[in-house]
Amino acid sequence: MNTYIGIDLGTSSVKLLLVGADGQIINSITKEYPIFYPQSGWSEQNPEDWLKATVDGMEELLNGYNRYEVKGISFGGQMHGLVLLDAEDNVIRPAILWNDGRTQKQTEYLNTVIGQEKLSQYTANIAFAGFTAPKILWVKENEPENFDKIAKIMLPKDYLAYKLTGVHSTDYSDASGMLLLDVQNKCWSKEMCEICSVDEKWLPKLFESYERIGQVRDEYNLPNAIVTAGAGDNAAAAIGTGTIKDGACNISLGTSGTVFIAQDAFSVDKNNALHSFAHANGRYHLMGCILSAASCNKWWMEEILRTQEFANEQEGLETYLGNNEVFFLPYLMGERSPHNDVNARGCFIGMRPDTTRKQMTLAVMEGVTFALRDCVEVAKASGLKIEKTKICGGGAKSVIWKKIIANVFGAPVSTLLVEEGPAYGAAILAMIGAGEYESVSVAVNKIVKTKETVFPDDMLTQAYERKYRLFRQVYPTLKNIFAQI
Ligand code: XUL
Repeated sequence: MNTYIGIDLGTSSVKLLLVGADGQIINSITKEYPIFYPQSGWSEQNPEDWLKATVDGMEELLNGYNRYEVKGISFGGQMHGLVLLDAEDNVIRPAILWNDGRTQKQTEYLNTVIGQEKLSQYTANIAFAGFTAPKILWVKENEPENFDKIAKIMLPKDYLAYKLTGVHSTDYSDASGMLLLDVQNKCWSKEMCEICSVDEKWLPKLFESYERIGQVRDEYNLPNAIVTAGAGDNAAAAIGTGTIKDGACNISLGTSGTVFIAQDAFSVDKNNALHSFAHANGRYHLMGCILSAASCNKWWMEEILRTQEFANEQEGLETYLGNNEVFFLPYLMGERSPHNDVNARGCFIGMRPDTTRKQMTLAVMEGVTFALRDCVEVAKASGLKIEKTKICGGGAKSVIWKKIIANVFGAPVSTLLVEEGPAYGAAILAMIGAGEYESVSVAVNKIVKTKETVFPDDMLTQAYERKYRLFRQVYPTLKNIFAQI
């Protein structure tokens, strides 16, 4: 049987799936790598760590399986990260990640001096601290010796593709998050290159996510594998969850949290609070991204409660659904959508002497969900309705969290038979690039299957509506204090 490898280059680990042409998962491997926080609010990783984890992971994945049957490889990758290579192909400095907040000054310069209107006209988006273009300006200002060495700029998953094939490529979905792409016309923006002192020669060749970019180099001993461009992790997840129809929604609860709305036609929301990006099916999407989602839960469990027993901690939380007086603001890494504020911080509010650990655990999941609801409100204000949604990512494994989401959104939430959104989406893209299926929609309709749906409950929806109204008032009240911490 023909097999395919889907690689999801995430923030805490790389996940590799070996998938049959019929969509069955044959094997899966996860390999972790470190993340570095050199200063408060900064985050970096070594591209060499990604590569080693991926190459080692691929060997483990294929151990005992026929390498000749592997017909294709593709990727979903953490978006926006800045990878810089010199003329000899060496990594110049650690990659600056999507949730790094060091570029406040450069982001403000782009949004105010160049102006949001121009940015939106050139790229369909405004500047957010995590986007790639402000990072390039940061390197130019703060590390001129590194800036002078730049021969190539790439995104995280594109570094893997480059090492595997020797081809310098990216896809439209991932390139959308650089603030260098004219998203509507799917070409590099000459104006943005000039504003950011980027030589267009440094930028990779653009592909649709499902297009073939090359063959795997001989040294990796996968003689029949074609490499397909792949997508940013959210677009890849949308393929993996079958979120391709106009208006369809997917929520991803990973390190980040996203609300992803597929769009057949290009559009921009009037305040650019949602990202307007290309989709991996050749069309477009709108997206809100919160910087800390399942990572808030991980932080609360591992750093504060010092436990790995996530399921135990969530036992019995049902009793508090709809009546928990504790609030949590999830802005551990500042916030992207919709506040665009690198200074925002996490906090708990509303405790009393009888407040329990359970209530605080629940508050964390509720707070993350309310922050996602903030993104949904922006979508609603642009006339978009979210009547139901799919869900993927680590947080989607929690039964209670899905209930909270269904009730805070007032919409049914469906999980998928295969839960590995981005890695599965990457495998599907690999199948299309290699010619196994003729299009994304044909593959998705054949392969992606819903598992179960959690429905909202009227009473709980009303209770959460009241709590959400209060939650919305907390950030504006604390905004100035955050800026002074
Ligand atoms: C999306 C974003 C995050 C990362 C996480 O804009 O920044 O979802 O892609 O990997």
